[in-house]
Amino acid sequence: MSSPPTRAASRPSTARPAAGPDWRDGVVYQVYPRSFADHDGDGTGDLAGILDHLDHFGPDGLAIDAIWLSPIYPSPGRDLGYDVSDHATVDPLLGTEADFDRLVEACHARGIRVILDLVMNHTSDEHAWFRASRASREGPYADFYLWRDPRGFDAAGQPIPPNNWVSFFGGPGWEWVPERQQFYYHTFLVGQPELNWRNPAVEQAHWDMVRGWLARGVDGFRLDVFNAFLKDPDLGDNPVIEGDSPWNRQVHRNDLDQPDFVDLIGRFRAILDEKPGRLSIGELFVGQTETAAGYTRPHHIVFDWSLMESPWTAPAFAAGIDRRETAYGPDRQPTVALSNHDRERQATRLSASIGRDRDPDRDAIAKAAAVLVLTLRGMPFLYYGEEIGMTDVDIPRAEIVDPPALRAGPDFPWYDRSRCRTPMQWRASANAGFTTGRPWLRLAADADRRNVAVQEDDPDSTLSAYRRLLRFRQTAPALRTGGMERLDSGEPDVLAWTRTGDGQRLLVLVNFVGEARRIDLASVAAGRWVARVGTHRGLPDIAPDGRLDLRPDEALILESVDG
Ligand code: NOJ
Repeated sequence: MSSPPTRAASRPSTARPAAGPDWRDGVVYQVYPRSFADHDGDGTGDLAGILDHLDHFGPDGLAIDAIWLSPIYPSPGRDLGYDVSDHATVDPLLGTEADFDRLVEACHARGIRVILDLVMNHTSDEHAWFRASRASREGPYADFYLWRDPRGFDAAGQPIPPNNWVSFFGGPGWEWVPERQQFYYHTFLVGQPELNWRNPAVEQAHWDMVRGWLARGVDGFRLDVFNAFLKDPDLGDNPVIEGDSPWNRQVHRNDLDQPDFVDLIGRFRAILDEKPGRLSIGELFVGQTETAAGYTRPHHIVFDWSLMESPWTAPAFAAGIDRRETAYGPDRQPTVALSNHDRERQATRLSASIGRDRDPDRDAIAKAAAVLVLTLRGMPFLYYGEEIGMTDVDIPRAEIVDPPALRAGPDFPWYDRSRCRTPMQWRASANAGFTTGRPWLRLAADADRRNVAVQEDDPDSTLSAYRRLLRFRQTAPALRTGGMERLDSGEPDVLAWTRTGDGQRLLVLVNFVGEARRIDLASVAAGRWVARVGTHRGLPDIAPDGRLDLRPDEALILESVDG
């Protein structure tokens, strides 16, 4: 078995200047800590493992600006860290408090910001607050959760839940607790009781925790399911509609998106704004792009799903892009992400989405998708492994680690999230260099061929394309902060848009099909253009009359030389 690489933290820090206070123009890389790199050999990734691999993010690597760590807090792990039993400390499974402080310090020395994932909608049922709360209707934590009396009792004497709310993870939303003779609500697992944000003490407890992490140097937060924090004060029934699952058969009028939620976000932002340069990202829970845009504020951006849910066709992406541009307008900053820990990986999803009429070149599509992520207007978020084109992994039922996946059925369609959370593939050695132990989740079958070490030596690899594009983006003000205009490329399978700012004008072309397409640049955007960077080896020539032949699945960034 191979030994772990030497600690990156001991290497000299880079010459790259730390991004300025308004680093929303940077690129964020999502690390799923359990799956990124295992330093101590117990089979689960850890914070020291991330430290081992900081070079991957540095100027000779991806040159990203921030890492977002999926939850690092103590947790029984029923929802793999999204069931938190103490929000203020580090899970011993992932390392020590000192490891965390070292990681922040080492990242900062390299100009990389650190974003934590805050799970404030619910806790684990093993959290001390919940233990106290379920034990008694008296005491400081009695009202920390959404407790309610039954609506009544049925003929068999069983308590009837207070309303019709259900769990997003399948099954009922209300759980009966005999000790209190009351129900509590949980949007997710029974083991993830919902906090009562209408209790000021809950809000205060969270703000104290937020301040604690800020004092340790954290630069920002991703807010898990943030638009679910507040519920209708009367906990009214949701209206019922047609749908393919119990959750989708309700309009979530009373359990999401309450009118006073924007004030709550304002109070949260006021804490972050005590010092410049702190970012927050809200995870919109099952909402539309327009709702995401509505919650966006200076330094507070919001994930929307219109691109992540789009098939890989030019018309579908055009519709998604236009919808976002209309919803956000020029002054609000969108996010751009095609994968995360809850969704099919983009290399799998995009290729599958185009049907069976041709055998898609997955890697070529993954590279073209990288151009979208890094050149559309908005803050790009990369999900670990997408830079090497990692795909979903078939996980046998006995190895599934995603609890809702185990209850999937005809009336509860569910994507098994274990498939997109498999260990990072570093090199062609045992367990792809992820661990010297037994990996907590199986690796992809192609890990010995598809990994960082192999791809960094190959100029045609997905990793090399990501690195080229990321480095170009770093030096391109038009991509970082410029405006965007979508243009007609003259070819239905090719999307075109410009990014303009700070005296720079760039034209992006993306060919969505596995066939060459000829573009007449003169009719797309006036002026003289030079190809700067793209997905394929070598840059295509532009004929004197402006004709340009895009290769199959090729995406390209051109720059205006007219200023
Ligand atoms: C959203 C997270 O992204 C997901 O992974 C988690 O299961 C739920 N929130 C519950 O915390």
